[in-house]
Amino acid sequence: MTAPAALVTGASRGIGALIAEKLATAGWDLTVSARSAGPLQERAAALAGHGGTVRAVTADMGSEEEVLALADAHVEAFGRVDALVLNAGMGSIGAIADFPARRFDKLYAVNVRSAFVLVQRLLPTLRTSAAGERGTAKVIAVSSLTGVAGEPLNSAYGASKAALTSLCETLNTEESEGGVTATAVCPGYVATDMTAPLADQVAPEAMIDAADVAELVVALTRLGRSVVVPSIPMTRPGPHLWRA
Ligand SMILES: NC(=O)c1ccc[n+]([C@@H]2O[C@H](COP(=O)([O-])OP(=O)(O)OC[C@H]3O[C@@H](n4cnc5c(N)ncnc54)[C@H](OP(=O)(O)O)[C@@H]3O)[C@@H](O)[C@H]2O)c1
Repeated sequence: MTAPAALVTGASRGIGALIAEKLATAGWDLTVSARSAGPLQERAAALAGHGGTVRAVTADMGSEEEVLALADAHVEAFGRVDALVLNAGMGSIGAIADFPARRFDKLYAVNVRSAFVLVQRLLPTLRTSAAGERGTAKVIAVSSLTGVAGEPLNSAYGASKAALTSLCETLNTEESEGGVTATAVCPGYVATDMTAPLADQVAPEAMIDAADVAELVVALTRLGRSVVVPSIPMTRPGPHLWRA
């Protein structure tokens, strides 16, 4: 069997880096992406040490042109996409009362629009991959618990993640009978660079371990085509099931 191939966005650090690491260890070929070339190249070199082919492509998810070029580079390199991991994202908090609308647009572009464009561009390849020996192709979005249950200061971020989760749901309704299925993984606070500024409010030890999110994502890639898992909330231990 040919090695499966995945495209992982936001793979230079945090949750995405761990997803790429676990996939590389499991024998996957990879395209990894982020904006900063240096850390991405470094990660890609380490991933290639597991024996698979690894392609590093810099792309800003805020640029449609770069998002399309990323999708095309992956198809050109591997000709298949067994898993599309929509992980790159940005956070930004602030009360609705004075959150700048332009910032809202930026969050939407990076967190949702890029995902839509990637899915659309890669759909023909996702379909042919799902019709191949594996029988399925997975789209896995790293969404957020704030997209499941609203939280103060997260109007734009939460709305963007709720939209991302909805995109996965709709994709399932349109494509799952052909073997292309989607899951939105929705964690609460995960200890990464993104949440480092919150360390005085929630200790990193009390946050979800990024390795646990990556483990769940990789487990989803092992499922067959008989099941659709639209979304999975992931919450921290404690009395508040729906609080990030
Ligand atoms: N940490 C949490 O508490 C948490 C909770 C729920 C969901 N999430 C989601 O999980 C995903 C990963 O977050 P993380 O915590 O692992 O973040 P992180 O540690 O800050 O890593 C973010 C990754 O995405 C890349 N990235 C950021 N902005 C990008 C852009 N505009 N275009 C392309 N790549 C970009 C970064 O590389 P460059 O900076 O070089 O581009 C990096 O590789 C995000 O979608 C986030 O919203 C995080």
